[in-house]
Amino acid sequence: MSSDKPTQWHDDTLAVRAGFERSNVGEHAEPIYTTSSYVFETAAAAAARFGGEDPGNVYSRFTNPTVQTFEKRLAALEGGEACIATASGMAATASLVFGTMKQGEHMVVSRNLFGSTVNLLGKYPPRFGVEVDFVTGFDVQDWAKAIRPNTRFLYIETPTNPLMRVADIKAFATLAHENGAQLIVDNCFCTPALQKPLAFGADIVVHSATKFLDGQGRCVGGAVVGSKELIEELTGYMRSAGPSMSPFNAWVFLKGLETLSLRMKQHSINAMAVALALQSDPAIERVIYPGLAEHPDHDLAKQQQSDFGGVLTLELKGGREAAWSLIDSVKLCSITGNLGDARTTVTHPATTTHGRLTQEQRDEAGITEGLVRLAVGLEHAGDIIADVRQAIAHS
Ligand SMILES: Cc1ncc(COP(=O)(O)O)c(C=O)c1O
Repeated sequence: MSSDKPTQWHDDTLAVRAGFERSNVGEHAEPIYTTSSYVFETAAAAAARFGGEDPGNVYSRFTNPTVQTFEKRLAALEGGEACIATASGMAATASLVFGTMKQGEHMVVSRNLFGSTVNLLGKYPPRFGVEVDFVTGFDVQDWAKAIRPNTRFLYIETPTNPLMRVADIKAFATLAHENGAQLIVDNCFCTPALQKPLAFGADIVVHSATKFLDGQGRCVGGAVVGSKELIEELTGYMRSAGPSMSPFNAWVFLKGLETLSLRMKQHSINAMAVALALQSDPAIERVIYPGLAEHPDHDLAKQQQSDFGGVLTLELKGGREAAWSLIDSVKLCSITGNLGDARTTVTHPATTTHGRLTQEQRDEAGITEGLVRLAVGLEHAGDIIADVRQAIAHS
């Protein structure tokens, strides 16, 4: 769906109004169109709609007004031409690869990605003749060496899950374009409220809407934002393959977008407070948060992001035993793999989100047993700090 972005509107206005046209009922809030199909006046009208001569809704596997409102709003916020919503974040990446790539093409993929993305891209595209090479870290020279004449995409996530490393989007976009390729950025951790990859030259943004776009841990969904041409191609794929977003989930994400920038500001304030408070704790080897001056990518994050986001990772001195013990002792934080929730979540990446990787893959990505990821929520920062401190004291 195209963004219909009124160019004069600021992001805060787009977040609550873009993409929505009131029907003749006069509703103020966006309705949820829970309909699987649409009715046509005549057989000829149905044929014209199915054939694409008459634009409009055909079947909710690939067109639904509530989903389209979400698509237009997210495209507007990312500054993209168009967007397609998907059933999950993984479905966004899978649709992008399987809906656009051809046998014989190649992609260069970051080793520092969410575990399921590593699994998806490492395992399935090669079965269909798409070649994939992984690169550890974000040294552009290393990436340049991996590029081949048939390279179609470079794929990065920034900041990364869970080590919060930051890739220079502008440098990666330049590298991609110099080699006739396109840059895909997973913008899940920052969201368009803190970072706009397309403005730095990226070609495509993918999202897990499940995280901060929802913001309250209610629904699973995803999206791809890019050119009109790309989204048209993916709409064709959606029509055939069907990994579509439900209208109800789209409505929940629309409500999430309305408060996104307020929430991202508060997540960032809280995460910074937690990072600073825990920095001096003797049980902690290091607090990994791009907002801290000693984080290796602090300066880059400052240039590229408007704030540092809600996720930080602790490296505990006592390895897995200390990490699990902290997790088992929290009273306020929730032990769950999700992030981007109003409630602070605590996760052991090595045995959960990155547990399906091989030990070698985890070693390469720097996912050690002592890491504990905190996705800092919207509770009072003092309560979150007190909970983690008491958990460390009990462990
Ligand atoms: C950075 C990142 N990208 C993509 C995904 C996948 O999203 P979903 O769980 O909505 O499929 C996740 C999930 O944790 C993630 O953290």
